[in-house]
Amino acid sequence: MTEQPTGHDAIDSFSNENRTFPPPAEFAAAARVSDGSLAAEADSDPEAFWARQARELIDWQVPFESVLSWDLPNARWFDGGRLNVAENCLDRHVRAGLGDRVAIHWEGEPGDTRTISYSDLLDEVSRFSNVLRSLGVGRGDRVNIYLPMIPEAAVAMLACARIGAVHSVVFGGFSSQSLIDRINDAEAKMLITADGGYRRGEVFPLKPAADEALGATPSIENVVVVRRGGNPVDMVEGRDHWYHDLMEGASVDCPPEPMESEDLLFLLYTSGTTGKPKGIMHTTAGYLTHVTYTHRYVFDLRPESDVYWCTADVGWITGHSYIVYGPLSNGCTQVMYEGVPNHPGNDRFWDIVERYGVTIFYTAPTAIRTFMKWGAEEPARHDLSSLRLLGTVGEPINPEAWMWYHEHIGGERCPIVDTWWQTETGGIMISPLPGSTTTKPGSATFPLPGVGMEVVDDEANRVEHGGGYLTLTRPWPGMLRGIWGDPERFRETYWSRFPGRYFAGDGARLDDDGYVWFLGRVDDVMNVSGHRISTTEVESALVSHPSVAEAAVVGASDATTGQAIFAYVIARGGAEVDVDALRAHVANEIGAIAKPKAIFVTPDLPKTRSGKIMRRLLRDVAEGRNLGDTTTLADASVVGELQRRASEASSED
Ligand code: PRX
Repeated sequence: MTEQPTGHDAIDSFSNENRTFPPPAEFAAAARVSDGSLAAEADSDPEAFWARQARELIDWQVPFESVLSWDLPNARWFDGGRLNVAENCLDRHVRAGLGDRVAIHWEGEPGDTRTISYSDLLDEVSRFSNVLRSLGVGRGDRVNIYLPMIPEAAVAMLACARIGAVHSVVFGGFSSQSLIDRINDAEAKMLITADGGYRRGEVFPLKPAADEALGATPSIENVVVVRRGGNPVDMVEGRDHWYHDLMEGASVDCPPEPMESEDLLFLLYTSGTTGKPKGIMHTTAGYLTHVTYTHRYVFDLRPESDVYWCTADVGWITGHSYIVYGPLSNGCTQVMYEGVPNHPGNDRFWDIVERYGVTIFYTAPTAIRTFMKWGAEEPARHDLSSLRLLGTVGEPINPEAWMWYHEHIGGERCPIVDTWWQTETGGIMISPLPGSTTTKPGSATFPLPGVGMEVVDDEANRVEHGGGYLTLTRPWPGMLRGIWGDPERFRETYWSRFPGRYFAGDGARLDDDGYVWFLGRVDDVMNVSGHRISTTEVESALVSHPSVAEAAVVGASDATTGQAIFAYVIARGGAEVDVDALRAHVANEIGAIAKPKAIFVTPDLPKTRSGKIMRRLLRDVAEGRNLGDTTTLADASVVGELQRRASEASSED
C-alpha cells in the first residue's frame, strides 16, 4: 500500500483484536438467516440469486426479461421490466391492508411529533406529485431538494419517484455555493426547500441560503418552500410557492408512472479526489432490489413488529437507502428525528429509543464515540430493553467504541452489524448477517450473499491474508450507473486502477479467518464524522480567499470524528492570514462540516521534486509522528518548520 491515511496505531489495534461474538442463540433461533444457505445459493449463481430477490421483494408492473447485461463499466439490471419505486414503497402496502401501519414516527427537535401511517404518506406523496406536475415537472426532469429532517423530505423524494422525476438532495448543512454547484451541474428545474429547521435549540435558516444560490442558478423555474422554522423569508412572486398553499388544492389521485428498470431515480453528489463533486447516478429496479434486500436481511427485519431508527440525514446516501427507500419498500415502522443528539440533554437519543420502543438502531461510529465521551450514565437513565439489533456505518469502528456500544446500548444481548458501503454502491455490501455471522469488534466481517469482493495488492494480485486494496469483482444491482455528465471520469475513477474490477478507494486487511478490517481511504478523500470530504475541495475553498496563495489539506486521526481536517496555507504576498476568518470562509464555501480543525500558516509546503504536495508527510506532522525518510523533499527544512508550528499549536489547545 502506498499510503496509510488513518494512522498506524489504529491498524495495530485492529490487528490485535481477537474477541469473537457468535449470534446469541435466541436471536439466531428467530432470525431470517441463521445458517450459510443464502450465501451458498448466491455463490452457486449470483445472477439467479439477485433475480430471485428482485422477483420476491419487488412488485413489477411488467416483469423483467433479462437479469444482467454487463459491458464494463456499464451494467444494466432487470431490463424489460417496468415498475415504480413509490408504488413499491407505499401503494403496495396500502393495497395489502397495511394502510394504518405507522410508516414514520417523526419527532422534531423542539419535541413536537407527527405520526404518519402508510395511507397518510401515500396521500401526501400523491398530492405532492400532482403539485410537481402542475409546476411543469415531468419524467427525467431534475429536482433539487434542500430540506431539514422533516417528513416532507421523504415526501418530496417519493413524489419525484412517483412521476419519474430525478431528485438531487443536497444536505441542509451545505452552503449556498455548494447548492449552486449541484443545481447547475444537474440543471435542475425546481428547488424544494424550507424556511428553516431546528438544530441545537435554534432555527437554522435555509430559504435565505437558497435565495443566495438562486441568483446563480438559471435553470430553476420554481421554488417550493415548506414552513418549518417560522423564520421570516422573502418570497419571490411567481417563482416561490408555499408547500401548504400548493397542497391545499391538490388531488390525491396520481397513478404511479410506469418506469423502466434502468430509468434514473436520483443523483447524489459526493466528494472525489478532485475539487468537483461527482453526481452519482442511481437507477430504478436494481437500486430498489439492493436496498430492500439488504435492509431486510442485514437488519433481520420484522416489518410487522420492529421499530427501526436510522439517525442519518436524508442528505446522505444512508438517508436515501436506509431511511427512505429500504425501510419503506419493506413496509416497516421507523423513527425519524430532526435534530441533534444533545438537545435538550445528552440523552435525547436514549429518550427516543425508550419512548418509541426502538428495536433496531443504526448510527455512525463518530456518534458512538461522542456518546462514550458523554458517559454511560446517559443511556443508563433509560430503559433500552426494546433494542434487539444495532448497526454502524460510515467509517471504521474502533474496537473500544464497538465494545462500548455492545455493553451500554446493546445490553450485551444485541448483535452489531458493522456495515460497509458507499454512495456509489447504493446499498450495504460488506456486513455480518446478525443471525449467522460471528462478529469481531471492529471488523465488517464478510461480503453479503450476492456480493463479490477481493483484496488485492498493487499489482492486482489477490491477497489472502494481510493488507491491500478493496475491490468488488462483479457488478451488483445497486451499483452506480455513472457520474452525471462525465462517463470518462466514471471509468477512470472506479474501473481503471485494477482491470476488470471496481476499486472502492479503501484499504482493507484480511485476517487469518478471512474477516475484513477496513483501514480507511487510500486516496485524497477524508472521512470526517463519517462524511466524505475531498482535500482538493477544501484546498480550493482556501485559495479562493484573498489572503491565501497556496494551501494543502490533510485528514489526520481524531479520537471523536475519525479524521479531522488540518490545513497548511501560504499567505499571499505579505497578506495577514486571519485563521478564524479563513475557517469561516471554508464553512461559507462548502459547509460547516468542511471547516478545518486547525490552520497553520507556513512559508512553504513540502513537495516532491515533481512538485506534488507530500500529504503523507503533512499528515505525519499533524499526527505528531516521526517523519522518517524525507529525502525526496525539495526543501527538507520546510518540514522542521511545519513540525515546530504544529507542536506550538497543539500546546496552545
Ligand atoms: O471509506 C469508506 C467509509 O466511507 C466511505 C463511503 O463514504 P460515503 O460514500 O459518504 O458513504 C457513507 C455511508 C455508506 C467508504 O469508502 N465507510 C463506510 N462504511 C464503513 C466505512 N469504512 C469502514 N467501515 C464501514 N462500515
